[in-house]
Amino acid sequence: MTDAHPDDRHGLRDPQGRTLDYLRLSITERCDLKCSYCRADGADVAAPDAMSLADIRAIGVAFARHLGFLKVRVTGGEPLLRADLPSIVRALRADAGFERVALTTNGRLLAGTVRELAAAGLDQVNVSLDTLCEGAFREIRGVDAFGAVTRGIDAALDAGLRRVKVNVVLLRSFGFAEFDSFLAWGRGRPLEVRFLELMPIEGREEFHQREHMSSEPLIQRVVADGFEPAGRDGPGGPAVVYQRPGDPLRIGFVSPITRPFCAECNRLRVTSRGALKLCLFGSGFADLLPAARSGPEAVAEVVHRAVVLREDGIRSQGRPIPCQAGLRGIGG
Ligand code: 5AD
Repeated sequence: MTDAHPDDRHGLRDPQGRTLDYLRLSITERCDLKCSYCRADGADVAAPDAMSLADIRAIGVAFARHLGFLKVRVTGGEPLLRADLPSIVRALRADAGFERVALTTNGRLLAGTVRELAAAGLDQVNVSLDTLCEGAFREIRGVDAFGAVTRGIDAALDAGLRRVKVNVVLLRSFGFAEFDSFLAWGRGRPLEVRFLELMPIEGREEFHQREHMSSEPLIQRVVADGFEPAGRDGPGGPAVVYQRPGDPLRIGFVSPITRPFCAECNRLRVTSRGALKLCLFGSGFADLLPAARSGPEAVAEVVHRAVVLREDGIRSQGRPIPCQAGLRGIGG
């Protein structure tokens, strides 16, 4: 069975009844920043990418045409380190037929490429910024690139993308102090500034304990400042969004720890090595690459077999519990 379930308007259903229609597709492990909350030691910028453009096209066609997925977000590593990114965007848009193609980037190389990406069919971009202070940027992101990233954000707005979002990971040692500066910086601009609660990353639990802060006091602050709920950011979108009358600036909060959204999770993930993951925190995976080399139907088949193992993402005491077990080996 390779078609979407006949009862669904689109997408797949998992055993909990959640519709899956949003793919997060990593295209490289490489990254050129050294963020304190991510890979502070830096990532190998020379490592070869595991998936070719043809592999990515086959996976994209499987998800959009055979499984009914509507949206894809290209992630990394840092996706702009791949010179064939415009071709990847075109393959996902024109060949696979996704309705929306989004990109998450650190923004360092964005200013020079965003027009070409928009012409290739990119709809929206999320740029990780974290701070408005050049010195703090160097401290948090490990590289001196504040000017390049803010130029990238300006260029994305100029390129006429449907939506430009700016991600700010909340760190206790930085977050509160700069909150008002972000509101002032974004005022009057058609941006969405999103504050993300820090998530625990394997091996960085101590960092998480020290730096995690709840988004709740900040939500109270925007409400006190005259911002009004602007609804969810699309179905299954994890952000709660606020807006002030007459101002295009949107302020979003993504709160995986204090307001977990597993019950509405509509995503599947494919890693840069072509492995399907059913949950960000899951340890199991299914290798899609051999299937991708036989064609999109084979990929869809593996995904269908894997999705029945997608468990409820219950969390306890703020600690994510891996969503699935026993996936390893499927499709391999
Ligand atoms: N917690 C929260 N957000 C994170 N990001 C990377 N690591 C973490 C983490 N541990 C952010 C990046 C990027 C987005 C995709 O996720 O800054 O904006």
